[in-house]
Parts: sequence; structure tokens; C-alpha cells
Amino acid sequence: MKPISLEITCQLAEYSELKSEDRELVDKAMQMTEASYAPYSNFHVGAALRLANGVVVGGCNQENAVYPLGLCAERVTIFSSQAQYPNTAIMTLAIAARNTEGEFVTEPVSPCGSCRQVILEHEMKYNQPIRILLVGQKGILIFDSIKDLLPFSFTSDSLDS
Ligand code: THU
Repeated sequence: MKPISLEITCQLAEYSELKSEDRELVDKAMQMTEASYAPYSNFHVGAALRLANGVVVGGCNQENAVYPLGLCAERVTIFSSQAQYPNTAIMTLAIAARNTEGEFVTEPVSPCGSCRQVILEHEMKYNQPIRILLVGQKGILIFDSIKDLLPFSFTSDSLDS
């Protein structure tokens, strides 16, 4: 037996340090929390992504009285982008969240496991790393690839091995 250590590097940035394209995504993700339908959790999540063609697509979580039927902001946004612009890679995805009183989360909000898997699918599909911006009042965490958030992942490659 031998230990295996993983090293993950991400950046913690202030909003003012972001380049304008990333600021636009953060702004849009925060704005999209206003369209969130979250009467059960009162946790309003917004997301915004930039496609390879430059188009920005936004989305937000959509809940249901039958709780498991709700869908996270990340998947709403990704599926919407791919329905509108098929065969177009996703370059960057920003995620923001706030409570019903309008207070944005202090710690950067992190995607759930299911959303990480869906983000990975799109990285693999286009062979294009997706940058991820996680927004919190403390700052913005930046990952260069979903692989940093989902190590030892299952992909279509796993089916062939
Ligand atoms: N949610 C998201 O939309 N994205 C996340 O990254 C975490 C959780 C939603 C699902 C549900 O509507 C609410 O937040 C509470 O879990």
C-alpha cells in the first residue's frame, strides 16, 4: 500500500482583479439569482457561462414541490446553452448564490456532485477545459478545470477501459 496525494491549485481573487470578461460573468451570475425559483430552500443560485463563440448564457435553480425534480442553476445554464448553441464549447462558468433576504453567500458557492459530473461531460465532449468562477463575499475562487473539483472521475473513457 502507498499513499497517493493530489494537489489542487486554484486562485482566490478580488472582483477588482478580474478581467472584464470574467467580471461580466460574475455580474450576470449574481443577476440571474433574481430569476431563481427557490420557494422551498430559499437558496437562490445563479450561473452564467461564456461559450466559445463569445455568447453569454445565464440560468438559475428551478425547484419543485416534489423536491428531487428541481434542477441546479449550473445544469439549467449548461443544458440551455447547449440547446441554443449545439456543438459550441463552454469556456468559463460563474456561479453565485444568495438567500431570500438578498445576502450573497460569504464563502464561494461550490457546485454539487451531479453538476460537477455534467460540467465534466462538456469538458470531455469539446476537449476544452472549463474555467470555473465561484462567487462569495470573501472573494472569487477560480479553477482552471472541473477536473480540479472532481478528481478520480468517471468519464466515457472509463467505459472503454
Ligand atoms: N443549488 C444549485 O442550484 N447549485 C449549487 O451549486 C448548489 C445547490 C440549488 C439546488 C436547490 O434548488 C437549492 O440550491 C438548495 O440546495
